[in-house]
Amino acid sequence: MEERISHIRTEALTELQPVASAADLDNFRIKYLSRSGVIAGLFEDMKSAAPESRPALGKAINELRAAVQGLFDEKKNALESSARPTTAPLDLTLPGRERWVGSKHPITQTLDEIKRLFTAMGFSLAEGPEIEDDEHNFEALNFPPDHPARDMQDTFFIAENILLRTHTSPVQIRVMESQKPPVRVIVPGRVYRNEAISARSYCLFHQVEGLYVDKGVTFSELKGTLLSFAKQFYGSSIKYRFRPSFFPFTEPSAEMDITCFLCNGKGCRVCKQTGWLEILGCGMVHPNVFRHVSYDPEVYTGYAFGMGIERIAMLRFGIDDIRILYDNDIRFLHQF
Ligand code: PHE
Repeated sequence: MEERISHIRTEALTELQPVASAADLDNFRIKYLSRSGVIAGLFEDMKSAAPESRPALGKAINELRAAVQGLFDEKKNALESSARPTTAPLDLTLPGRERWVGSKHPITQTLDEIKRLFTAMGFSLAEGPEIEDDEHNFEALNFPPDHPARDMQDTFFIAENILLRTHTSPVQIRVMESQKPPVRVIVPGRVYRNEAISARSYCLFHQVEGLYVDKGVTFSELKGTLLSFAKQFYGSSIKYRFRPSFFPFTEPSAEMDITCFLCNGKGCRVCKQTGWLEILGCGMVHPNVFRHVSYDPEVYTGYAFGMGIERIAMLRFGIDDIRILYDNDIRFLHQF
């Protein structure tokens, strides 16, 4: 029997050597290592051997099984790893893959800068809904029904009395409804107007609103604050002027112009040869607005201002078509 054991060892070895497929390998396993295989058969045969020789035979068969199993495992590993796709040789001279770094949209950059300057002057941030009711967008801001001032802002209506806000001024009302004076906030946000779309106007844009209410707030404080902002934002050499204007919710109202920072006031295409750029609307909060939010106009005064962001960003970055700000074209965005 010893002889058979060593014969089977040689036989198994020679048979395993040329095996190159998973199927052949499995046949090998079935022939030698399965329950009804050759090695299991040796254990059966051992039972008919002389009792005193059994322990030695058992040991020999066990060793045979371990050896065949070991070779089988090796072969199996070798077959599996050669079945994996071979990786291309490493080319250390290849240039690295450039990482795409995102950048902030020019509107966001402009908003961030404006927020930074006003928060440094003691303003806090407030926000309000883009879907508004007529009450906040117009009524409480002293636009009576059918008043022609409503036509200044072409409105997208969603339902009766529900609309997309046409300016950030309704947030003035929401802030004053929810807190007592003093109030000092800026309100950045999107606004919507039903205007013909062109290189200069789009159906949505951004504004930053400002509101300051306290006892004894004056127009000269409004001017001082806006001038301080404009000098930091546009450069300390700018000149400015306030022109009388009209908004239903401020009285008196004004528009602020600064000398065109592209031509330094000499006159160019952008300022239409006037040397001036209009940058915002502002004024002292109308007493009717205070009455709407139950602030006593005999006790409190306040100022408000509102500026459009797209125009500012376009001037700063030299963008000549507003629509490109909303195209999400990566070739455009990549430049900022
Ligand atoms: N809401 C006005 C507009 O959109 C701007 C403004 C805000 C004017 C606050 C005065 C005070 O035109």
